[in-house]
Amino acid sequence: MIRSQKTILSFLFALAAAAVVNAPSGNPQAASKYHAEVNKDWPKQAVRGAHGMVATDEALGSQAGVEIMKRGGNAVDAAAAVAFALAVVEPAAGNIGGGGFMLIRLAGGKITFLDYRETAPGKASRDMYVGKDGKLEEDTSVIGYKSVAVPGTVAGLELALKTYGTMKLADVMAPAIRLAEEGFPVSKKLARELEEESPGLEAFPVSRRIFLNIGKMWKPGDTLKQPELAATLKRIAKNGSADFYQGETAKLLVEEMARNGGLITLDDLAHYKVKVREVLRAKYDVDGHAWEVLTSPPPSSGGVAVIEALNMLQGVPLKGWDDPQSIHMVAETMRRIFADRAAYLADPDFSDVPVAGLTASCYARERAATIDPAKATPSASVRAGDPNACGSKSSNSAAPQTIVTLGEGPHTTHFSVVDAAGNAVASTYTLNDNYGSHVTCAAGFLLNDEMDDFTTQPGQPNALYGLMQSDANAIAPGHRPLSSMTPTILLRDGKLSFVTGSPGGPTIISATLLSMINWMRLGMEAQAAVNAPRFHHQWFPNRIRMEAEFPESMEKALRARGHDVERGWYDTPSLGHETKLRKHMGLVNAIGIDPQTGDRLGAADPRDDGAAVGY
Ligand code: DON
Repeated sequence: MIRSQKTILSFLFALAAAAVVNAPSGNPQAASKYHAEVNKDWPKQAVRGAHGMVATDEALGSQAGVEIMKRGGNAVDAAAAVAFALAVVEPAAGNIGGGGFMLIRLAGGKITFLDYRETAPGKASRDMYVGKDGKLEEDTSVIGYKSVAVPGTVAGLELALKTYGTMKLADVMAPAIRLAEEGFPVSKKLARELEEESPGLEAFPVSRRIFLNIGKMWKPGDTLKQPELAATLKRIAKNGSADFYQGETAKLLVEEMARNGGLITLDDLAHYKVKVREVLRAKYDVDGHAWEVLTSPPPSSGGVAVIEALNMLQGVPLKGWDDPQSIHMVAETMRRIFADRAAYLADPDFSDVPVAGLTASCYARERAATIDPAKATPSASVRAGDPNACGSKSSNSAAPQTIVTLGEGPHTTHFSVVDAAGNAVASTYTLNDNYGSHVTCAAGFLLNDEMDDFTTQPGQPNALYGLMQSDANAIAPGHRPLSSMTPTILLRDGKLSFVTGSPGGPTIISATLLSMINWMRLGMEAQAAVNAPRFHHQWFPNRIRMEAEFPESMEKALRARGHDVERGWYDTPSLGHETKLRKHMGLVNAIGIDPQTGDRLGAADPRDDGAAVGY
């Protein structure tokens, strides 16, 4: 899709407004004049299953995971099956041409984090997207071959399976191969999305042939077959990731890169390495229960951010999202964690990220003390703190600003899996933009445009999210670009309690944080925790962004506290007409555990037809 349309269209969800209350169970604020009403067609209760549960954006993806568990696979086997299946049925984000993170907690308590984030190719350089005129060539980092970073997904899934799975690659890939070979019915969602993305996909012949039906376009109910992808998946099933990184697929990919100005070489692919990282952990006491947060370390910025936020919010009374004061306090917290994100987060293999300092409770106390409970602090007077000097005042020294456009769409995808034994997987993986670089390679899969997550021109915002980030995130060969993806697991009194995460660019952090607060602090039922309206603050712009469901009275109450607010509907003159579009943020596919019965509570995000399937 052409970028000028992207920010608008990526928010296009055909969801009808409705005036029915879907109050979280036990929400004392249900009758409040600030109450947010959610779509009456959204499920009010999570899907219940005594054994296994999978929550993803696509019913076919969730079913692939359940199929594997019913055949005796564990949650990691199922997660690999889901990831390969989504690469077929959710081409916008499901992928083998991108990268991601997987957080695993086995029933016995063992935890690990697999980082299969893409890396910059060896020929990449700091100023590769800066033109001769010194200006950022914005489209080059988001569309076409030069935007592609070395993919990590296949290596990541293979390592997850080898280390913690029980089944063979060929077995867990069977549903994906079947879906690619025999085809699957095009949904209304997919047909609409392909229509929206057609300007970008049209520019690349293989994309046009497969995803635009040679220009004839796919209609709901048509069968989409992907024979080249099926052949690639079969080679991987037979020869493992060696096919992707050194074999036939590598050869096809590299030849195409060379012909089209891409940078990826055989050497880049052969040297790609998954990183096994230490899980970030934090503990909280809430209402007499001991909670533990297991979350994503750098190069995710999200885990550090959600822990810093939860630390800052300890002791802050939160009544729910019908309460302007609760939103004020959380938004002020978000403002500060995003200031820290911009200053300090980057690839930890090449940069000294002060994780311990940023997640220390004494640092959180200092940061929280700068919040005025009655008034918004203008972002211009909020600076990153000094996490290395806990005990001293927050630094006033200038930090890099983050300016993020509010147009990031829902793509990237998060899925959650819990099996009958209690093993759990939270995984978010991505091509970055919807349909990534929009290039489908000859091997039949879409390639990412993850290069745009780097600081593409130090001192300038990047193209896709308008993010200004620090120099530590500059492009360099082998580096991983900073991510917001935040797969997270919560334990309650030592037991598995909630598996969560979201897509949404920088709003990933807010959507994931809110889902955690909804479950852990507000005691919402799992589906209510996903349905609950979302809001986001990211320091710059100096504005709370709120979903359309929040009432005007809430906007007024926040404005009275000095906040600028962007809420819900907006005009889209760039579409050539005054269409009003509804804006949502994030797609949280979560699983809760009923503490009484142990049932798995699958809560997929209804904002874009997510599906939880359990048994
Ligand atoms: O890793 C990241 O933070 C981004 N590449 C995620 C992109 C995303 O969530 C797209 N959806 N808005």
